[in-house]
Amino acid sequence: MNQPETLVTLQSAVQAPAHVRHLRLLAWVRDMAALLQPSAIHWCDGSEAEYDRLCAELVAAGTLRKLDPAKRPNSYLACSDASDVARVEDRTFICCERREDAGPTNNWMAPADMRATLQPLFQGAMRGRTLYVVPFSMGPLGSPIAHIGVELSDSAYVAVNMRIMTRMGRGALDALGADGDFVPCVHSVGAPLAPGQKDVPWPCNATKYIVHYPETREIWSYGSGYGGNALLGKKCFALRIASNMGRRDGWLAEHMLILGVTNPQGKKYHVAAAFPSACGKTNFAMLIPPRGFEGWRVTTIGDDIAWIKPGADGRLYAINPEAGYFGVAPGTNEQSNANCMASLERDVIFTNVALTDDGDVWWEGMTKTPPAHLTDWQGRDWTPEIAQATGAKAAHPNARFTVAASNNPALDPAWDDPNGVAIDAFIFGGRRSTTVPLVTEARDWIEGVYMAATMGSETTAAAAGKQGVVRRDPFAMLPFAGYNMAEYFGHWLKLGDRLVASGAELPKIFTVNWFRKDADGRFVWPGFGDNLRVLAWMLERVEGRGGGEEHLFGITPRYQDIHWHGLDFSEAQYRSVTSIDRAAWADEMKLHEDLFERLAHKLPPELLSAKAAIEARLAA
Ligand code: OXD
Ligand code: MN
Repeated sequence: MNQPETLVTLQSAVQAPAHVRHLRLLAWVRDMAALLQPSAIHWCDGSEAEYDRLCAELVAAGTLRKLDPAKRPNSYLACSDASDVARVEDRTFICCERREDAGPTNNWMAPADMRATLQPLFQGAMRGRTLYVVPFSMGPLGSPIAHIGVELSDSAYVAVNMRIMTRMGRGALDALGADGDFVPCVHSVGAPLAPGQKDVPWPCNATKYIVHYPETREIWSYGSGYGGNALLGKKCFALRIASNMGRRDGWLAEHMLILGVTNPQGKKYHVAAAFPSACGKTNFAMLIPPRGFEGWRVTTIGDDIAWIKPGADGRLYAINPEAGYFGVAPGTNEQSNANCMASLERDVIFTNVALTDDGDVWWEGMTKTPPAHLTDWQGRDWTPEIAQATGAKAAHPNARFTVAASNNPALDPAWDDPNGVAIDAFIFGGRRSTTVPLVTEARDWIEGVYMAATMGSETTAAAAGKQGVVRRDPFAMLPFAGYNMAEYFGHWLKLGDRLVASGAELPKIFTVNWFRKDADGRFVWPGFGDNLRVLAWMLERVEGRGGGEEHLFGITPRYQDIHWHGLDFSEAQYRSVTSIDRAAWADEMKLHEDLFERLAHKLPPELLSAKAAIEARLAA
């Protein structure tokens, strides 16, 4: 058979439009269709007409509900199955040939064993459903930093969310051309339909597998239709697979927001900040300057993920590989994040928030006084009285919004720049009620990597499991590093060495903790817009100005080093969020010890020396 015939034969076998000329892609879709046995194949073009049609079909199927077009134009509410509400870390696997390459913090299975496990699950998994072929670009179309993926999914909800979250459709296919590389992603909700069987609004399966094969760069996801389990460009590709690409090719794929901050003199800086899930990243990325900081401006480049590559000048350049926000709704309001509230005025897919009686949405924390009656995320009646009596939440604590970045009034003009923005500082933050000070500057790159590596945080609703438990979450990447965490630390150290050797000045590294509590369990630091006070201090340090005090593991500003204009925050309050309790730090160091014992194999010796230095200061 000559090549044009092969192309035409393949195109017709998988119902592909004539512009799809990528033989490997066509052959893969043909093979996957043979395995998955869908009743139809639809190639997504990413157009608005397609989005509207799929949303209308989802409304007819009961998956989406259209919100009142006057109150929330062009917006929908999805309510998931009660068993499918968050990322499932215990069902997430890194399947490389050698267990040690996945490291002790990832679930591992040998690829052949995992393929044998998944084969019967995926066999016929899409029966009675449409297979959506979803081509997408992570990063600006055609950018040298971007990479392409193709997700095959039997969920139209996934297809419409992917249109918001990525550059999805015809443009991605064109960028892929006839023989470009792509990461193949297979997703099934694991709920085939027998002939005549009635569908449910949120099909899923009690058995779930979120599987990555880093060596062959594949993603296979089964049984869940929710968030990072199903929108495979996000955590699976942009972090777990991309961290492997970055290790090989000398760049970083990080769980970081990217923001621009411009001071009243018009000087602009770029900062990348890593926080665990549901610790206020979206709020920080869209920060509105507080009183006393008139003339400052914060602009958003990304709210969750950064791909960071060294440029020819030795500086680190970051892009946001995503095109939308999949953010946590509860707690978002006009005070905590007015830019986000403005972003959500229209064109949104909400998932697992509550429905008001007049066809709009509500979630805990949106308004001080809740509406008198709501339909909760599981379709039940909800009133403030019921909540008082039973503790029932109207919105699920991990309820989300999906919205395009272009809806954000604080969007940075460079957010789509294929070259990215040069990073001046990295920030690492955890959620800690005690122990960790408001802000600390690392004295050098190694100390910064040590701080990031030993970060702890209290768990949140973004992942299934118990909440509020302190766990080590190195670089906020515990659930997202696609290879051995100890080697990932080594990659950061090596990159630092390489940049220094090229004569470059490295970005400064800071840690923050917005979440210290007083004896009554209340947050002491006001957070939100006032976090700019801390950020402004960091920028002074970047400029070589700004005071501070050295302590056990870095430099923290003194009370007089922060600009307090516009905020009533006493020196005693400041002390309570910056003080270092040596006994608590002695206990904390034991937890660092536990982490390092767990990661002993391949742990860079520089980190052991950094730890010994802190212990020596603690003992002095
Ligand atoms: C997210 C997460 O959805 O980190 O961004 O869980
Ligand atoms: Mn995240």
